[in-house]
Amino acid sequence: RTNTIIAIDGYSSCGKSTLAKALAKKLHYLYIDSGAMYRAVTLYFIRHAVPLDDEQKVAAALAAIHIDFHTAAGQTCISLNGEDVSEEIRQMFISDYVSEVSAVKAVRSAMVAQQQRMGRNKNIVMDGRDIGTTVFPDADLKIFMTADPKVRAERRYLELKNKGEDITLEEVFENLAHRDYIDTTREESPLVRANDALILDNTDLNEEEQLQFVLDRL
Ligand code: C5P
Repeated sequence: RTNTIIAIDGYSSCGKSTLAKALAKKLHYLYIDSGAMYRAVTLYFIRHAVPLDDEQKVAAALAAIHIDFHTAAGQTCISLNGEDVSEEIRQMFISDYVSEVSAVKAVRSAMVAQQQRMGRNKNIVMDGRDIGTTVFPDADLKIFMTADPKVRAERRYLELKNKGEDITLEEVFENLAHRDYIDTTREESPLVRANDALILDNTDLNEEEQLQFVLDRL
């Protein structure tokens, strides 16, 4: 392999995507948001009322799902069967269900396969929960991000509020705790720090300091 792969994993709302985007911009790498893919699948499953315990229906749904990334006005956007769903997948009704969908084995195999294809022969930064453990166990640099749960909830709450979502800080805190619980305890590639991943606790670090932390270790 001649391309470089940076894997960023960690808990919900730790600022993984902010750091990954800054890195990709600085290094001229491709940024891939694996969480957005699970969110797009979740949107499809909700719209089509796909029962998670019905293997055939799940398989049929996955075969009917096409996820693509594209750039529009300098922003990375994601499309689900040709429809730009970048905004919709950030809403709370998706966050409330995405970890359940992501725990389904067939969903994971389909996403992991596509993620591995996307990383072939390209310099990439990919963020998620299982990038350093399952998707790219041979990544050149692995970062495991964490931060104080209260700080994470406050950051995400402000972000959602600014987008006009009608939610409380408690709801956001509960959602993060719920997702972290499912993501770390699921059977299929749970969220866990890879042995060779560097821990980055950004509770007290600004974006510039986080970027520098990674650049210093590349
Ligand atoms: O990264 P983000 O918070 O948008 O991810 C949403 C959800 O997708 C996570 O809570 C997790 O359940 C799932 N996910 C995953 N594996 C990844 C990325 C995300 O299971 N690699």
